[in-house]
Order: sequence, then structure tokens, then C-alpha cells
Amino acid sequence: MNEITLLSPATSANVGPGYDIFALALDEPHDKIILTLNDTEKISIELVGDTQNIPTNINDNTAGLAVLELLRRNNLKQGVNIRIIKEIISGCGMGTTGASSAACIYGLNKLLNLNLSDNERIDLARMGEVASGGSPHADNVAAALLGGFILIKSYNPIDVLKLEIPDFSFVLAVIKKSQRTTRGFITYEIGQEKLKEQMARCSRVIHAIHTKDIEEFGKAINVDYIAEPVRSAAIPEYQVVKQNVLNAGAYGCNVSGGGSSVFAICNKNNIDEIADIMHKGFVGNPNFVRVYKTRTSNKGVKIIS
Ligand code: HSE
Repeated sequence: MNEITLLSPATSANVGPGYDIFALALDEPHDKIILTLNDTEKISIELVGDTQNIPTNINDNTAGLAVLELLRRNNLKQGVNIRIIKEIISGCGMGTTGASSAACIYGLNKLLNLNLSDNERIDLARMGEVASGGSPHADNVAAALLGGFILIKSYNPIDVLKLEIPDFSFVLAVIKKSQRTTRGFITYEIGQEKLKEQMARCSRVIHAIHTKDIEEFGKAINVDYIAEPVRSAAIPEYQVVKQNVLNAGAYGCNVSGGGSSVFAICNKNNIDEIADIMHKGFVGNPNFVRVYKTRTSNKGVKIIS
């Protein structure tokens, strides 16, 4: 076998208080990635569809960096063409960079019979994130690779736990961020009271997943003292829309991943109303793209041929 075609899901990282340690996979949208081995000993990247100015130079591309690292760690000189058919909108906190690198590592592990463990694949795929956010965070890539709800149990060494996530309706208002990354603006000095509350919320999220309690899950993800204050400040109408969706019965609402998309979890009976509130609230923002009505998913990267 020298070619593989994969679908890799959009993911939403942080899930409220879990900065860099929580993420979940979404049922849609997906990117399609086709990997073809060749004997050139070179990596090439082709983007198809809405290419969104994503770099194709391997050292600037998340998938390129992850593949380089995989070849380096395994002492391989292998040519590979990476064809990425974009559906996930980039620069919005939907895990598009993680989706590409996760699929490349998953696919090369199969094509080259490397037998890498989940943690080894995640550790490689996260190296791609340096190209977009400047840091090798593992949350998005882990959710794209494994599906479900991801808890990074340890960064040093990488150790990831996948939890089965109950089926939640998930509304995502897609808003592009104006900078490439906002990580540099985040302050980690949040003080003792907020630090305790942040840890309590993280624990509550995990408990809510174990007990399959969506109302508890929603309450737990509504609070984040690390990323939400910085990222939501750059989203006009954020606080008003958040309050409106919660008043309309959404269980929880927060900023998705690196922003500036905003997500809400709800049930299928009020998904249209929640989507409508988010659309009306954000449509005037010049960086607004669209609203997705999707759901959580326990499936990660899958082979389609
Ligand atoms: N955890 C990362 C962040 C996700 O918040 O920057 C980036 O999509």
C-alpha cells in the first residue's frame, strides 16, 4: 500500500477551563487528507479547495512539521505527498491545524507499519502545532486522532486519556481571529482564588463526563479564568450572546480553542434557537463566517480508502 485517504475531524480545545488539557471531537466538519508515498525522499504539500493562505512550505505547515519529526525520530528518508482537501475553516479555533497533522501521523503510521502507540502519535502530531500557535500543545491533535473527550493527563511525558463523550448538540459560531495566535496575550498569573476555582471546574468537567450529566458539564465549562478573559475581549457582543444562549436553555457556552469561534452545548430541541441567537449576535462582526449545528463525536481520524 502506498496511498491512504483519511477524514480528520474538527475539534474544540480547552472546553472552558481546560486550557491546553481538554478537547473534544466534532461530528463535522472534516478535512480530507490523501498521503502518497514516493521515492523522492522529499515531502510535498498540496492544498485543495478553500486554501485560506495556509503555507505549503513544509517548515511552516503544521502537517509538514509533524511529518518531518516522524521521519527524523524513526530515522527514515521517505518521500511523501500530502494532499489536504480543506473543509474546516482555519484561524477560528476549530482545530484545523491539528486535524491535518493528526491525519498525517495516523496515515504514515499505517503506511510505514510503524506500530506507534497513541501517546507516541500524539507526541509527534503536536509538534506541528508549533507552526501555528508557537507551542506544541496536544489537545486538538489528541481529539482529532482519538475522538471523544480528551484529557491530557501529563505533558511530560505525554500521556493522554480518551473519555467517551455523551452525545451533545454543539453549536459553533465561526469567527476568525484577527491575529494568527492570541496565546502570547494570556497571563498565567490569575491569583489564588481564581486558580482554585479553575482547578475545581476542571475536576467538575471530568466528573460530569463520568456521570453523563450534561447540565453539570455545561455549568462546569462556563467558567475559565485563563483564556476566556483575553480571547472573549476580542469578540464584540460575546458576553451578551453568552447570556442570551444560557437564558435560552443552552447548558454551557465558551470560546472554542484559540478563538475566536464561540461554542454552546445544548440539546437537540433547542439547537435551532441557540444557533439563531448566535447568528444574530455575531453576524455584524466582520470576522464572522457562519454557524455550524453539529454534535460531539467519539470518532477520530478515519480511513476512507
Ligand atoms: N489549547 C490551545 C489554545 C488550542 O488555547 O491556544 C489552540 O487551538
